[in-house]
Amino acid sequence: MLYDNHGRQISYLRLAVTDRCNLRCFYCMPEEGIRYVDREDLMSYEEMERIARLLAPLGVDKLRITGGEPFVRKDILEFFERLSRIEGLKKINLTTNGTLTAGHVQDLQRLGIHSVNLSLDTLDRERFLQITRRDAFDKVMTTLDELLGHGIPTKINAVVMEGKNIDDLVPMVELTRRHPVDVRFIEEMPFNGQGAHYAHLAWDHRRILAHLQEHFPAIAKVPDPPFSTSRNYRVPGFLGSVGIIAAYSRTFCGSCNRIRITPQGMLKTCLYDDGVFNVRDLIRHGASDEQLRAAFLDALANRARDGFEAENRRRPVQESMSTIGG
Ligand code: 5AD
Ligand code: SF4
Repeated sequence: MLYDNHGRQISYLRLAVTDRCNLRCFYCMPEEGIRYVDREDLMSYEEMERIARLLAPLGVDKLRITGGEPFVRKDILEFFERLSRIEGLKKINLTTNGTLTAGHVQDLQRLGIHSVNLSLDTLDRERFLQITRRDAFDKVMTTLDELLGHGIPTKINAVVMEGKNIDDLVPMVELTRRHPVDVRFIEEMPFNGQGAHYAHLAWDHRRILAHLQEHFPAIAKVPDPPFSTSRNYRVPGFLGSVGIIAAYSRTFCGSCNRIRITPQGMLKTCLYDDGVFNVRDLIRHGASDEQLRAAFLDALANRARDGFEAENRRRPVQESMSTIGG
């Protein structure tokens, strides 16, 4: 089993399968985009599958496919199929922006994708265009309809941004009235490809909650699942729930069970670290499974206690979330 130097067991791998994306969300990328990783520098599906097969018997039983936008990578459904055959992997989840997902929802269900996180920051077409710089709102809403129609457990991830989508918070909670969907409000983080564009985070988790309580006085705390990064709430009588993720305030590091691998194969033992070793390079230099396992154990023996320590140890944040996978 994989334990870190703070006694936390690692059971969850987030795999970013591409850094490419067909949207340009301003909190993730500059308008002109980022310099994408060259294709030969991307981990191959074989390499990623090998890592998942290596980690599953060590207790990593949950996997999330993220990006970039996973559906811009060729043959992604075949990759899901390969993953679905790995013994010991109990849950395979997907994060997607929903622009290319409609039409594949049935496939996702067939391939045993357990749940889908849809990135959607607004229910307003015009604001969607302002935030993502692309006119793809209708496609995303079609995806949402299909996910709900097929009964796939669905979460909506909405980054909360001063001056951008504050008017959406209440309508998004309203979505949970008639739909069994989890809407999660996320504090904005400095991963927009250029470093933070705010000196002080205007909408932290406390302010988000206060805003929700003002409009839904009956909103009540519900139990949080183990290792949850969100604090979860429900308006009594509503079908869905509401979560708040203190991604910038980093209140949940104490129970962190996750590691990340970037599209170019960097292992991150914290979202806020700089990457601790390159798994792809080890594989391409011919490392045995034993050597790979040792490298993971080594990295975990020196894991930062929390996202603040990880950030302090690194050079300044310049990355895009598109190369991390959230
Ligand atoms: N701050 C907070 N969340 C972000 N995401 C992308 N960039 C940021 C950021 N700068 C979210 C997306 C997606 C998830 C993978 O990460 O909304 O849902
Ligand atoms: Fe694409 Fe997601 Fe980044 Fe938006 S936040 S540009 S959808 S990777």
